[in-house]
Amino acid sequence: MPDLSVCINGMRFPNPFVIASGPPGTNANVIGRAYDEGWGGVVCKTVCLDAESIINVSPRYAHLRAADSDEIIGWENIELISDRPFETWLDEFKRIKDLYPQRPLIASVMEECSRDRWVEIIQRCDETGVDGFELNLSCPHGLPERRMGQAMGQDPEIVRQVCQWVRSATRKPIWAKMTPNITSIVEPARAALEAGCDGITAINTILCVMGIDLETLRPLPTVEGYSEAGGYSSKAIRPIALRMVMETARLVAADFPTTTVSAAGGVESGDDAVQFILLGAGTVQVCTGVMKFGYRMIRPMLDDLRAFMDQHGFETVDEFRGRSLPYFTTHADLVARQAAARGAHGGEAQAAEAGSRDDRWQADRLVEQSRALSSQEPDAALTRGPSQ
Ligand SMILES: Cc1cc2nc3c(=O)[nH]c(=O)nc-3n(C[C@H](O)[C@H](O)[C@H](O)COP(=O)(O)O)c2cc1C
Repeated sequence: MPDLSVCINGMRFPNPFVIASGPPGTNANVIGRAYDEGWGGVVCKTVCLDAESIINVSPRYAHLRAADSDEIIGWENIELISDRPFETWLDEFKRIKDLYPQRPLIASVMEECSRDRWVEIIQRCDETGVDGFELNLSCPHGLPERRMGQAMGQDPEIVRQVCQWVRSATRKPIWAKMTPNITSIVEPARAALEAGCDGITAINTILCVMGIDLETLRPLPTVEGYSEAGGYSSKAIRPIALRMVMETARLVAADFPTTTVSAAGGVESGDDAVQFILLGAGTVQVCTGVMKFGYRMIRPMLDDLRAFMDQHGFETVDEFRGRSLPYFTTHADLVARQAAARGAHGGEAQAAEAGSRDDRWQADRLVEQSRALSSQEPDAALTRGPSQ
């Protein structure tokens, strides 16, 4: 029987699957349910000192559905952080830790760019017994207007400053949660790790516009006729999350080997999660998946993980963490490898052949030819057919 437990920044998780900050971790009742169903840990919905200023609207979600089924593949939200009073949260953190002392509870926190406020929120949460912190430097809507969330996470120097404040306030593990709405996730991630954070969470939601209602001509989700850009999550963002986790994990492996990555973005199955671990993630978080399928989705996820480990003979998660990371390289290296594999003499002949291939696209075979180039074993007749 493989051992699914992981020890991350000194916290022991019975399995690497963690509830991500959002509705599935938004009060003590739902957090208890997550532990009861078998989730390895919980990051609570983001809390702040003054919840009175947090005012949500509804509807606040909108969906992208697959063309051939009703399945939700993309999910937009314009939800803010928790609107529940900070004192209530402190009571609940204590209660949860009393009931589930062995299960990691990570407090997600967000504040304005003020040293006093960050230090206060961290110290008051710390006293309740939470196991660690996740800094929400990445919420893309609503709060950036107040210079919070993503507005901080997009500026590596502010990230560094906030992470230093937080580091001075607690000895517990700190994960800095990154925004994907940035040219290079590596810059703020590096700033956070240099400032003493123990890990990076990647990614928060991707800024999006879900669509326009063609009857009313109003954007979705429509609130009194209006909308705003929101955060995109669910299955559709997984490839982007994988790319950003890959980039973050490479940074960690190269320059901060004692720190960790917690992955999030479009995970719905154990196989999805395993891919993030293969790229170097220590834990894998799920938010929208739980909103689509409920807390019990953890059961098939654990079965998938066990089956994967059995198939490859892995006894611990550590044995395969990061296994796929070395297989990312440069385009030039791919060209050289393919030339070598095909027995071509040097890169020049190969490049000349590749350069001429775009002449071979044929209008009435475009769909077929595109499909062939997506196959791991491209049909030579289609990809290297006669020039027109
Ligand atoms: C409705 C909703 C609310 C969310 N609220 C928060 C939040 O309060 N704090 C936070 O850091 N991330 C929040 N997130 C982002 C998720 O934690 C996660 O990073 C993101 O949705 C990608 O993962 P997923 O595809 O599994 O949802 C929220 C996401 C959704 C869909």
